[in-house]
Amino acid sequence: MNQLDFAGRHAVITGGATGLGFGIAQRLIASGGSVTLWDRDEAAANQAAEALGDRAFALKVDVSQQPSVAKAVAATLAHAPRIDALVNSAGITGPNVKLWDYPVDEWRQVMEVNINGVFLCCREVVGQMRKQENPNNRDTRGYGRIVNIASVAGKEGNPNASAYSASKAAVIGITKSLGKELADTGIRVNCVTPAAVKTAIFDQMTPEHIAFMLSKIPMGRFGTVEEVAAMVGWLCTEDCSFSTGAVFDLSGGRSTY
Ligand SMILES: NC(=O)c1ccc[n+]([C@@H]2O[C@H](COP(=O)([O-])OP(=O)(O)OC[C@H]3O[C@@H](n4cnc5c(N)ncnc54)[C@H](O)[C@@H]3O)[C@@H](O)[C@H]2O)c1
Repeated sequence: MNQLDFAGRHAVITGGATGLGFGIAQRLIASGGSVTLWDRDEAAANQAAEALGDRAFALKVDVSQQPSVAKAVAATLAHAPRIDALVNSAGITGPNVKLWDYPVDEWRQVMEVNINGVFLCCREVVGQMRKQENPNNRDTRGYGRIVNIASVAGKEGNPNASAYSASKAAVIGITKSLGKELADTGIRVNCVTPAAVKTAIFDQMTPEHIAFMLSKIPMGRFGTVEEVAAMVGWLCTEDCSFSTGAVFDLSGGRSTY
């Protein structure tokens, strides 16, 4: 495992109680930093923070609710001096059905969490990032790293996952817009597009859909949480300095663009 420098830095990780978010939290703590896990599952978030040790904190947050997110920023800054990185990992899949059978309320729920949640977390955290300095070079143009977890579905469009694919395409779009809006500051905004990685999110999908996703990966295997955490961890560090609004692929060769 390569050494990443996140020493003395603090990250907020949405959906950090499990899966990719938890793996990213592990990697950032191993890199010398501290984390606050924002998750709607309070018990799981508390358990995760306990497992991560005394540099991890947990907060119950619903990323789709603006007051909940705004409150979480204030609560995070009560125990952390700064938010050096924001990883938007909270997400849901929605049902695996054709668009014309998609229940309207479930479509809206996927959008609420996967894209409106990313919008709200970026909106509430960017204010703090814009006013904080980089302690390493006293850059007064603000400092921060934002990493959005999109999906290969947002590039390719998976059948039987129209809401999920559309929401993840929107995550790619918001990353590009915000990256450009902040390009003249010390804040970098990027996203990753993983193919399938075996986590609890698989429980929300049909076995046929999981088999379809695997069949599309040229490497012939699922990605691992550690592989995602390695790339996202680097995107959270100061070393990621000349990339913004960019889409980093993690798809075992599926989406090579
Ligand atoms: N695992 C994969 O195959 C895969 C592939 C591509 C992209 N992704 C994306 O990566 C992200 C993480 O996925 P994962 O595999 O870790 O899933 P997961 O189900 O293991 O974890 C998701 C976490 O998000 C939390 N969450 C859900 N809705 C929330 C809300 N409204 N507010 C706060 N927290 C909420 C859940 O409680 C859970 O802890 C998701 O955005 C997912 O779409 C996953």
